[in-house]
Amino acid sequence: MSDKPATLSSEERDRRVLELWERVVEVEGRLIPTGLHVFGRASDEQECADLLRMVASFDRPECGARALTDLVAEGLGLGTYDSLVGDKSEDGWRRRERVDKIVRRSVEIFLREGSEHAARLLEAEARVSAEESGRVFALLSKIREQLRTSGELDGLVRSLRGEYVEPGPGADIVQNPSVLPTGRNTHAVNPYAVPSRPAYARAERVVSALLERHRAERGRYPRSMALVLWGLDNIKTQGEGVAQALWLLGVRPVRDGMNRVSGVEAIPVERLGRPRVDVLMTVSGIFRDLFGATMLLLDKAVRCVAELEEPAELNPVRANVEGQVKADGCSFDEAALRVFSNAPGSYGTNVNFMVTDSQWESADSLGDLFVTRKCFAYGRDRAGIALEGREARGALARALARVEATCQNIDSFEIGITDVDHYFEYLGGVSKAVERHAQARPAIYLSDALTRDARVRSLEEVVRLETRAKTLNPKWYEGMLRHGFRGVAEIESHVTNTFGWSATADAVDGWVYDEVARTYVLDTEMLERLRCLNPHSARSLVARLLEAEGRGFWEAEAEVVERLREIFNGLEDQIEGVA
Ligand code: BEZ
Ligand code: MG
Repeated sequence: MSDKPATLSSEERDRRVLELWERVVEVEGRLIPTGLHVFGRASDEQECADLLRMVASFDRPECGARALTDLVAEGLGLGTYDSLVGDKSEDGWRRRERVDKIVRRSVEIFLREGSEHAARLLEAEARVSAEESGRVFALLSKIREQLRTSGELDGLVRSLRGEYVEPGPGADIVQNPSVLPTGRNTHAVNPYAVPSRPAYARAERVVSALLERHRAERGRYPRSMALVLWGLDNIKTQGEGVAQALWLLGVRPVRDGMNRVSGVEAIPVERLGRPRVDVLMTVSGIFRDLFGATMLLLDKAVRCVAELEEPAELNPVRANVEGQVKADGCSFDEAALRVFSNAPGSYGTNVNFMVTDSQWESADSLGDLFVTRKCFAYGRDRAGIALEGREARGALARALARVEATCQNIDSFEIGITDVDHYFEYLGGVSKAVERHAQARPAIYLSDALTRDARVRSLEEVVRLETRAKTLNPKWYEGMLRHGFRGVAEIESHVTNTFGWSATADAVDGWVYDEVARTYVLDTEMLERLRCLNPHSARSLVARLLEAEGRGFWEAEAEVVERLREIFNGLEDQIEGVA
């Protein structure tokens, strides 16, 4: 903060303290994996408590249970929990904290002493009837029992013997507890059920938050956005990403007599209450393979909106398609291409490999590689003929040139943007491609409906959050270090994935590298632990920090760089057997 303390009014100071408080609570409340999953091993008690609390904070209509957070808030006469989440005043925070504390204690008591004791606490402290809480605890008891047993080894052995393995859905435990018990034969999703009604409802909230945030920061709604859609995520969320694309365009899914999503219809723009957004969809190979019908639905949605007789300022899809037909002399079909993926049979952007192998000179080559890999168009033309992945580099380049914001939805607490290299290869890759073609860096967002307050954060905010909640959090790295060699590899991989956000999106603050260096390399005791457990990953981590400095992503002090070089050389000597 650059302001001198003397210039702050007391209101301003209070506002800043509250803002800081909000950030700390956000980091504290983030569920993080504290170690790797060990195949066949059940969750420990703490992990179980955190999961159960998250499960209990959502309505579970499938078993008639309401969210504990709502039951407690209403019992205390504080209104709905959603209204508390929306209230960012100091009093709002206190009320929310009061509710959270009671919910947390009730889950702890449930685990220690059973449902009846927990129900009594809720009745005494928040006037929640035993009948209401009983339904929640019945669900939690079942989940707890299922978390205690792991059928993974059994399932594996049975499948190796060629025996029957019971099927079960694949999803996130919090979003769909019926994924338990684990160790079953995971099945995916019926693509015709996507987006589900709850996913479409959740997406409306996320899209509103996204558009309002963009407008607050940039003065107007984005006219064109690029979304990243992944297959596994849309399985886990029953199509939340797909639903976001539909909401941005301003259409709703139409379901046939068998409840299959068979088409779309435009929501009248007066009812939408805002302009439509032109949406470019960059789709993973896995999504393309699993969601063939959905690819066609998304293409149909764009064409439907492009044909609506609406003014340009309310319907940029129509304006852009018409403009392109006029300027390029191309067909409507060509100008309306918005659904892009890899060539049939090919997967991934390879941007991650280019970054992790340090095989790039200028950042432009990362954006160009994304386009080379993802310039294959899907959908149907006006004659009803499927495109089946026709190469359309020019069409993708023109769509990218219009994009003002990019976004990807996060589907689970387990995997975040620094856990794997795929987020930066996709969201970073498309953002770099936009920067190349639009001559301006887009606003980059990540959304999630993992907690009750559907969140939209800027990429920079998520990098900071993940850095604090995971990479620099002793709870996280000690959990990893318990796994020895593999744990050090995980830490190194987080640093490299963070670096990936510098390379593709310039989204990492300098302090992140300062603190990574301080925590893992300049701390002699920690360096020694890493060196003994896995000198190869320790060396790569130091090399990545030096690369960040060398490429100008990090302005490190000269002595720090000097020390890192010495340490790198020492590790190299050890690995080569010289030392
Ligand atoms: C997918 O689910 O589509 C996906 C998963 C991992 C990496 C990239 C895509
Ligand atoms: Mg995922």
